[in-house]
Amino acid sequence: MTDDQSVDYSLLGAQLDALLKDESDALANAALFVALAFDALPDINWLGIYVLRDNELVLGPFQGKPACVRIPMGRGVCGAAAEQMMTLRVSDVHDFDGHIVCDLASRSEIVVPLISDGRLLGVLDIDSPRLARFSSHDQEGVESLCELFIKSLKRKNGGFEFI
Ligand code: SME
Repeated sequence: MTDDQSVDYSLLGAQLDALLKDESDALANAALFVALAFDALPDINWLGIYVLRDNELVLGPFQGKPACVRIPMGRGVCGAAAEQMMTLRVSDVHDFDGHIVCDLASRSEIVVPLISDGRLLGVLDIDSPRLARFSSHDQEGVESLCELFIKSLKRKNGGFEFI
């Protein structure tokens, strides 16, 4: 599967919901989310969560090569998406000023902030070895998966603690 339009995000969402619905542990659900998405999305080489801790992004569950552990707010694509609290889609990482290289194979990237009731919990970062891999279809789809994941965290005693 190499055509990003062929990803059925509603099916993927149903699969994610089925995996997370009976569990509220943030770490377990984050690991399941990351494993499912990495397996389902074609043409990606890294997918993972950075968790906001003391105004810094710290590496959480991921799939792919070992990556940098701490990213300050505002630094790299992850830090920029976190600071702006908006999704960033980067068609060519070499054109992004301050991009942090973790895997030399990465050519494009999407970072979705994980926001619960206005509060930033962290970001989901996905890298691809293909230029301009992520379309608006992917952005909408990945954002909807992130919402399902955040919803699963909210079930935990009504709180939003993330890992
Ligand atoms: N490229 C990211 C760093 C994280 S890795 O890609 C896993 C960035 O610029 O923030």
